[in-house]
Amino acid sequence: MLTTLLLWMHFIGVGMGMGGGIALSQVGPRLVAAPADQRGMLWTFEIFFARIGAGGLVLLLVTGPLMLWLKFGGAAGLGAWFVAKMMFVVLALIGVGLHEWAGRRFRKGDEAAVPLMFIGGRAAGVGIVLAMLCAVFTFN
Ligand code: HEM
Repeated sequence: MLTTLLLWMHFIGVGMGMGGGIALSQVGPRLVAAPADQRGMLWTFEIFFARIGAGGLVLLLVTGPLMLWLKFGGAAGLGAWFVAKMMFVVLALIGVGLHEWAGRRFRKGDEAAVPLMFIGGRAAGVGIVLAMLCAVFTFN
């Protein structure tokens, strides 16, 4: 029962990560293209969707290890697909971190941080999608 609910929360985390990322892929370029004095509303969306995405990742990082511990008794025996999944989880984390850090710099007026925001966002997207691929190969 508990582990089933954790898996449900794990999927909510996937949905939040994907949903936040897709929304940011639309808000980000419009934010960058807008004149500085017209970015107010776009920053509201940017910050909100970034929180949703990062919140999803936190949910994944909490529920994943709990399931691993409670349901599988650890990662031993899960094999190469699980190792690959963890590497893509790390890529997603680095991407979100870079996007967040560069976003803060851009908000303070540093336009040079924009390419780093895009790189971070794309790394996060690739990481989460490939982590899902490796997850289904691990557990099916
Ligand atoms: C970007 C982060 C992550 C994504 C996108 C992700 C995605 C997924 C998906 C799609 C499944 C379902 C696989 C299936 O049932 O066929 C799954 C299951 C699972 N994930 Fe993750 N995951 C992430 C992070 C983690 C982390 C950090 C851990 C643990 C260290 C973890 C541990 C697990 C476990 C144990 C299951 C199996 C649950 C079960 O079948 O009952 N996940 N994950």
